[in-house]
Amino acid sequence: MNRRNFIQLLGVGAGATILSSTLIGCGGEPHVELFGWSGPAATLKDIRLKVLSYAILAPNPHNKQPWIVKLVGPSSFALYVDPNRLLPATDPYYRQVHIGQGTFLEIASIAASALGYKANIHYFPEGQYGNKALANKPVALLELTEAPNVKPDPLFDHLLNRHSNKRSYDRTSLSPNEEQLLQTFHQKTSDAELVFKSSAQDQTQLTGFLTEAMAIETGNKARDEETIAMFRVNQAEVEKYRDGFGVAQAGMSGVKKIVAETFFLSREKLEKNPAGFGEQAVDITHAAAESTATFAWLTTKSNQRIDQIKIGRDYCRINLQTTAMGLAQHPMSQILQEYDDMLPLQKSFKEGYGIVPNDTVQMLFRLGRAKPTTHSPRRTLDSIISV
Ligand SMILES: Cc1cc2nc3c(=O)[nH]c(=O)nc-3n(C[C@H](O)[C@H](O)[C@H](O)COP(=O)(O)O)c2cc1C
Repeated sequence: MNRRNFIQLLGVGAGATILSSTLIGCGGEPHVELFGWSGPAATLKDIRLKVLSYAILAPNPHNKQPWIVKLVGPSSFALYVDPNRLLPATDPYYRQVHIGQGTFLEIASIAASALGYKANIHYFPEGQYGNKALANKPVALLELTEAPNVKPDPLFDHLLNRHSNKRSYDRTSLSPNEEQLLQTFHQKTSDAELVFKSSAQDQTQLTGFLTEAMAIETGNKARDEETIAMFRVNQAEVEKYRDGFGVAQAGMSGVKKIVAETFFLSREKLEKNPAGFGEQAVDITHAAAESTATFAWLTTKSNQRIDQIKIGRDYCRINLQTTAMGLAQHPMSQILQEYDDMLPLQKSFKEGYGIVPNDTVQMLFRLGRAKPTTHSPRRTLDSIISV
């Protein structure tokens, strides 16, 4: 199969595998397989473990799952960044890794509410560290208190279906009502600016920016290798590592997936030819952006660790709300990355859209309509708990 055919195949990937599930009634009935997620087993007596079993479903960069949890006292846990699960080439200041801590806390808080608990979150209980540094200090202490009258967050019903949908969309934009609904929803809990871009001109311009950003990102061996290391070439790798992502998350399934994984993808080929992987990534990015009619981003005035954690919470809530609305959502972060080669293009993007130079665009994502895709895997709960 040549590269073009492979890209075409990705663009027209068949529908996602639909599995019946025993998870019905806890966090919404999943439409797609949740590999590696065993749910809040009835045997889990500790409320913290129940909450954490949902939190690991949080969106996070490259599906690294960069979390360490220390159980503290009878009803609290401290969350730390896992220093062995960073992305130094593409996320040199760990900004995205910190956004992925916020997503985790948000899901924990939503799950707690549905289980009859209030989650009191104390950010950086041992002090915040600089936004280019990483310290061995917790990003948050989460304390669970029983609150039988707590109102379950309605987003709980969408925890098992939320995912990052990387397949091609159907080229329709969100309606003004959908954008308004999301804006109102977002502003209820956040001061961060949420911007939508849905004009034909934005579509062309953003497709150009995002494709060029991927070309820059993949023009470097260390960055390519970092991404290839998280790309799962077949089910055996998914089962072995239980992290990362593969063609299934771009919508490929059934026979096409088997054909691609058998004849086209192999770890050896990828590692021998990272530039080839990069070229495919550029084509896939172009096809994804080109199939999308609505883009959005979240911007903050300051860029401290706390801002990054809070934007993770906001982003996660938006992703759950779009899931509730039957919409697909997918971050496209390359243009936001902070290594030197990306900065000139990032500057043009910000100037082109009148974004204040000192503001930080924390998340950029596309929105639209597409069939769901297979969930990315998750490691076991005990692998994130440190004793
Ligand atoms: C901070 C952040 C940045 C991300 N950037 C990208 C990206 O540039 N491209 C992409 O395909 N997915 C991106 N994602 C989505 C992750 O790949 C996805 O959350 C992860 O694989 C887990 O999958 P799930 O969201 O479907 O559960 C990003 C997620 C986060 C939280």
